[in-house]
Amino acid sequence: MYMYMTHVHVPTTALTNLMTDLFDFPTQSNHFAVMGSPVAHSQSPQIHQLFAQQFDIRLQYDRIQVDAGGFNQAVSHFAAHGGAGLNVTAPFKRDAWQLCAQPSNHLSARAQRAQAVNTLRFDVGRLDQDGLSHGLSHVRQVFGDNTDGVGLVRDIQNNLGIEITGKRVLVLGAGGAVRGVLGALVACQPARLTIANRTASKAYALAEKFGTDADTDTDDNNSAHLNINGCGFKRIDEQTFDLVINGTSASLNGELPGIAPHCLGARTLVYDMMYARRPTVFMDWATANGAGKVSDGLGMLVEQAAESFAWWHHQRPDTATVIDALRDA
Ligand code: ATR
Repeated sequence: MYMYMTHVHVPTTALTNLMTDLFDFPTQSNHFAVMGSPVAHSQSPQIHQLFAQQFDIRLQYDRIQVDAGGFNQAVSHFAAHGGAGLNVTAPFKRDAWQLCAQPSNHLSARAQRAQAVNTLRFDVGRLDQDGLSHGLSHVRQVFGDNTDGVGLVRDIQNNLGIEITGKRVLVLGAGGAVRGVLGALVACQPARLTIANRTASKAYALAEKFGTDADTDTDDNNSAHLNINGCGFKRIDEQTFDLVINGTSASLNGELPGIAPHCLGARTLVYDMMYARRPTVFMDWATANGAGKVSDGLGMLVEQAAESFAWWHHQRPDTATVIDALRDA
């Protein structure tokens, strides 16, 4: 392990402002990567290179396959060899959260709520004699954020043109992917948010957790009353929703979450957080059952990457051209 930590005491009252400052140190190099397992399919390298071209930034962005149990060591190794930041994908978002939750490291509020981290930055210093002789740096602090929720909301609102505020929203699933986006969805103040899951108890737990103002991704404490409920698929209200988001992993296996078609109407946007070359089975099912509009998760993928890029490089890339380029590729 190459990880050396220092401890910083942060008074809770000053946490919000201080986090902004703490998260704002310059990155050390232009070497980035995505870690996951499997990771060979990841489009993050192409996306970040397309963003970098917009600003004439030269960067190296790799895919790193990590074995189960090897996440912390892989992160230490990457940072010690000059890596500036990482994206983290399945199944390591929770490991990344646990790493950043250590007292010497830092988590953004939205990553803390999600209990998942998809973006890391390192505050790196040179090692003393020993380290220098090996050409290594040491990681002073690791900073973690979660950009998935903002990525989903920006895709739906900015790219697809559907306002979430005041709408009836149905979210399918209650695993890590859903947990990562609920804070951002709740912050949009939908009129109603139903979380439905195959295992109903997990949906109840998430609805309870995110059903308080304190658990939204917003600093606005004057949020309207939040109408959130959790249920099993068979207990979804007999109503049509404006927005149905599939956050289950069912599409990965070509399976359908077992919801009834009454949830869909001619004005419903059905959004599958998964992205594949072809429409997912859920998208096909939704189209066949009268959904007004369907979308895959490519826009979310690009938008969450843009948020990571902006954090690392202090410049916000244009996403529409990148989404188009990936669709045409
Ligand atoms: P992820 O990180 O992708 O969210 P996860 O935390 O393992 O992965 O959660 C997977 C989610 O997809 C869960 O909500 C799971 O439902 P259960 O909690 O009942 O297991 C849901 N899921 C997976 N396969 C499914 C299927 N075939 N039909 C419906 N839901 C499914």
